[in-house]
Amino acid sequence: MRRPFPLTIAMAASEALPYAKSGGLADVVGALAAQLARLGHRVLLFVPYYREARVRLPHLPRACAPLDLPFPGHDVRVELLRHEPAPGVTALLVRQDDAFDRPHLYGTPDADYWDNAGRFALFCRAVLAGLAALRERPDVLHVHDWQTSLLPLYLRHRPDYAGPLAGTPSLVTVHNLAYQGLFPASALGYLGIPPGLFHMHGVEFHGRLNLLKAGLLYADAISTVSPRYSEEIRTPQFGEGLDGVLRERAGVLCGILNGVDYEAWNPESDAHIPARYTPGDLAGKARCKEDVERLFGFEPDPRTPLFGTISRMADQKGFDLLAAALPQLVALPLRWCLLGSGDRHYQDLFAGLARRHPGRLAVRIGYDEPLAHRIEAGADAYLMPSRFEPCGLNQMYSLRYGTVPVVRAVGGLVDTVRPYDPARGTGTGFVFRDYDVGGLLWAVREALAAFARPADWARLRANGMAEDFSWESSARRYVELYRSLCARRA
Ligand code: ADP
Ligand code: GLC
Repeated sequence: MRRPFPLTIAMAASEALPYAKSGGLADVVGALAAQLARLGHRVLLFVPYYREARVRLPHLPRACAPLDLPFPGHDVRVELLRHEPAPGVTALLVRQDDAFDRPHLYGTPDADYWDNAGRFALFCRAVLAGLAALRERPDVLHVHDWQTSLLPLYLRHRPDYAGPLAGTPSLVTVHNLAYQGLFPASALGYLGIPPGLFHMHGVEFHGRLNLLKAGLLYADAISTVSPRYSEEIRTPQFGEGLDGVLRERAGVLCGILNGVDYEAWNPESDAHIPARYTPGDLAGKARCKEDVERLFGFEPDPRTPLFGTISRMADQKGFDLLAAALPQLVALPLRWCLLGSGDRHYQDLFAGLARRHPGRLAVRIGYDEPLAHRIEAGADAYLMPSRFEPCGLNQMYSLRYGTVPVVRAVGGLVDTVRPYDPARGTGTGFVFRDYDVGGLLWAVREALAAFARPADWARLRANGMAEDFSWESSARRYVELYRSLCARRA
């Protein structure tokens, strides 16, 4: 049999490790790029050169001469910097300091940056101009979320921007349908969107411009980050107003489950945790628990279960439900430590709740990668009652760390956490259906009951630690999808 030829994959994302991260998108893009390269493909990864990236990597060489991008009324000069984050992956960092050298990626805890549409249109234009300048002709262009969704539109409707790349097949991956990139129609001209596309079967959405919709309509295929979420978003309940578009495009819509980078998230080798451990010897996990208890100001106690949560603080993650359940939650024999940042409202609410319930709830507001690892390792159980969840990574990290997930049956949480069945000893966590206080408390109580039965708890942990969500099989599915797009175009 002839071996299939390796692909050149151009990928564009608004965040990726090791450059900048606000959430799971960065973990996923960084790890997927590396895995695609391990499978023998070439990856050209475009990411903005944010302040965060500049601080980490201040001296990067230029990939080509500066690019002058024509915008209405003026040109914008951008630079393309080159870096190799993993063998086979060439990262191209788009440097334009007015747009990207800022304290945050998308906005402050109070508001998005006012010029996000322009910032990411600039990024998309730089991707096309950069590929042309580097004389690259990728087999496929893979974009992620609304920030890069103008690219499929440009490939189809702006041959002057796309140049030699016009006709390149594209894939858009939806990591979160709740963020659509909604802007006033007046931005159309600046963003280079032909006015003829501003109608309800185009990029118009209730009178405004919807950038994600551009990706959904003009990419050759759409994927989401779990199979369950790819089904859910075709319904009004989860479709965020775009379920009609997604039903129309159901023929090119699929779900590919995110993987885990087990080089970064593995209790056997994690450099951030005070003691390492394996499924066969969990002694180190007890030390990790003590570490987290002390850090959060709890008196160490192996008999009281420690719940952990690490999260963006947004409606999506179930914080209103957690707040509503809190009076009953803190009456149970457990402790809960929370690391989070995001909406000001939730930051203040939970900081206040922690002051009212010392010894039961402890909260750290902030973004802290090493602490995230220590919580994964030190907690007994992981609480993630999402309202919706495209995939979710922390429940998968938890499984590998022997930290039992307590989750809501939604999106990727359904695809990755199997309900525990004590009679058969199968399953990996506790899963509740309804988004209400009763459902959440039921699942927490089930977890507490299992914790009190050491044999059950040991089985749950062992089952979870044996799960394998490594990237290889998911990356292969992306490759199949890329190949099918190339074949269709050919
Ligand atoms: P989402 O992308 O919706 O925020 P995911 O579960 O896919 O959710 O991924 C979240 C990622 O961000 C995980 O790697 C998690 O550890 C990390 N993370 C979220 N909030 C924080 C925080 N406050 N400090 C450190 N890491 C965080
Ligand atoms: C999004 C989703 C999350 C997913 C992540 C990476 O931020 O909210 O569920 O795991 O993207 O795909």
